[in-house]
Amino acid sequence: MTGPSSTSPAHVAVIMDGNGRWAQMRGRPRLVGHHAGARRVKEIVRACPDLGVKYLTIFAFSTENWKRTQAEVAGLMSLFKRYIRREAQALFEEGVRVRFIGDRVRLEPALVDQMDSLELMTAENDRVHLTIALNYGGRDEVARATRRLAQDVAAGRLRPGEVTDQTLPRYLDTYFLPDPDLVIRTSGEARISNFLLWQSAYSEYEFVDTLWPDFTAQEFARVLGRFGQRERRFGAIPA
Ligand code: IPE
Ligand code: IPE
Ligand code: MG
Repeated sequence: MTGPSSTSPAHVAVIMDGNGRWAQMRGRPRLVGHHAGARRVKEIVRACPDLGVKYLTIFAFSTENWKRTQAEVAGLMSLFKRYIRREAQALFEEGVRVRFIGDRVRLEPALVDQMDSLELMTAENDRVHLTIALNYGGRDEVARATRRLAQDVAAGRLRPGEVTDQTLPRYLDTYFLPDPDLVIRTSGEARISNFLLWQSAYSEYEFVDTLWPDFTAQEFARVLGRFGQRERRFGAIPA
């Protein structure tokens, strides 16, 4: 595996897609694919320190995923609870700080309690910052942020003239994160499906055909290597 270089992306965001197709190809229920996907998460998180990735943000459940069958949604919610229950101690010991983004209001209280506990338990960790997007949608996030911002304006805590592209991100769920340098989507779909709309304005994108349950740490390292070849301009003319 390649070591960290000066061109390693500090913040990588991943749209973990293809679990359902992975299971279907094996004639298994979709949930089997989600479980296989959860095992991959562990491997990718563990690979981050050696690859120079300080922040990893993963898309686990979107605001649109409620449209799936009740059985799949319930299975995913059980999987999230199981993942937190089983992985909390290891994440803590490996120096991972875990935080969640997304709207918690629609999530069941037992899951929200587990999310809160894991955030608290790992709050002093600093080796890798893992952010899990759960009931997350970029548009929903911007709408919720705007609501809070409007409340501050109405209460006289903020003047309309103070609202800039520096102010608004302080109201987003990701206020504690740098913008992602690289967004990876697996499974061959080339769309962002409402992920990190504001934050990825200048991110590099990598769309890979591999289905998420087959996405290894080796492939992750290769994708990061390609990122190192890219020239980021941010609108300027290269020196
Ligand atoms: C991604 O895999 C995981 C979630 C959206 C929860 P999918 O479940 O979307 O898998 P495909 O796209 O149907 O193969
Ligand atoms: C995006 O994948 C959401 C997650 C990976 C959690 P989807 O599979 O839900 O996206 P679409 O429906 O193909 O756009
Ligand atoms: Mg999908």
